[in-house]
Amino acid sequence: MQTTHQIFYRDARDLKEIPSESVDLVVTSPPYPMIGMWDDIFGSQNVEIEKALKAGDGKLAHELMHEILDSVWDEVFRVLKDGRFACINIGDATRKVNGDFCLYPNHARILNYLLDIGFSALPDILWRKQTNAPNKFMGSGMLPAGAYVTLEHEYILILRKGSKREFKTECEKQNRRESALFWEERNIWYSDVWMDIKGTGQRLSDELSRLRSATFPYDLAYRLINMYSVKGDVILDPFLGMGTTIAAAMTSGRNSIGVEIDKSFHSAICPMAQQIVNFSNDYLRDRLMRHFAFVEDRIQKSGPLKYTNRYYECPVVTSQEQSILLNGLNEVRESDDNIFEIAYSERPQSIYDQSRNKMTIEPLDKSETQLDLLNR
Ligand SMILES: C[S@@+](CC[C@H](N)C(=O)[O-])C[C@H]1O[C@@H](n2cnc3c(N)ncnc32)[C@H](O)[C@@H]1O
Repeated sequence: MQTTHQIFYRDARDLKEIPSESVDLVVTSPPYPMIGMWDDIFGSQNVEIEKALKAGDGKLAHELMHEILDSVWDEVFRVLKDGRFACINIGDATRKVNGDFCLYPNHARILNYLLDIGFSALPDILWRKQTNAPNKFMGSGMLPAGAYVTLEHEYILILRKGSKREFKTECEKQNRRESALFWEERNIWYSDVWMDIKGTGQRLSDELSRLRSATFPYDLAYRLINMYSVKGDVILDPFLGMGTTIAAAMTSGRNSIGVEIDKSFHSAICPMAQQIVNFSNDYLRDRLMRHFAFVEDRIQKSGPLKYTNRYYECPVVTSQEQSILLNGLNEVRESDDNIFEIAYSERPQSIYDQSRNKMTIEPLDKSETQLDLLNR
């Protein structure tokens, strides 16, 4: 098994390198309109934005910023295949312009546009960020009628193009089964409020600290990719930033395309790719270890489980988990033109990490423990 990951340093308002109906999933987070750190990048794409901000016309600036994003959403719609999803992480903005403080509802503006161009909306996810916001007591403090609530959540909008995706051939069905989630993951990942993902999630590179604050957590991208695509799919992030979506696609056995207007991110993406083999294998091992811990606890409390995963020989709750296979990464190759290729192992045992002479996944030992429990 092998995947390919390509990065284009260009303006995502024109994705001419990407053919229509060629992408299986979009996972992205655009620059947030009316959040100060993105004023310059929006301003560089339309000079009228700076003029509107200087004139104190927040509503006009907000609309002009969204018109830039609209062009990218048009391209996203064009390149997505029928029946495929777009997952867009976006936060609203609060800002004082010309002495007037108000909320700029970015998620509502984007959602309305996406519906206008033909997407269907699915239930969204509220990402409750655990922050110690310093502005909790802004406004009029304890005095009623003038204070405002602290904005501590963002949205993950989930949209589908066209009708439900179908898995027709036996090969497609088997691939889907191997891409499945564990039962206990499903219960958390498909809930509509995510509280367990921190804004300062795992990072793959220490570079570009200024830009780091805008990255979304690795777990967020990894979950969405595993919830809304299968192995071998093509994932697109038109606002790539530090490359989190590409990294999560690499770990998940998906292909990916990233588009980023700012070439300076290249110096963060390359080290990420160099670390991805070890990082991913550790991540996959942790995912399995969490499953082993879950079933151990469940068996102790409620007795044996009915099904066994054929690759890890460990108990699972449902028949749909019997073929889950997390392919370990063997190596990464970079070719000249911002293309990375990842080679994977076909068998779970080969998540053995030769470079560190360490077994990063120990399915047999662990499953023996599980099976012992099962047989009691
Ligand atoms: C919120 S950040 C994305 C962060 C990313 N999810 C990560 O984890 O690193 C938005 C990114 O969009 C880029 N950007 C802004 N306008 C763009 C455009 N028109 N085309 C492509 N990229 C753009 C910015 O440079 C920035 O890196």
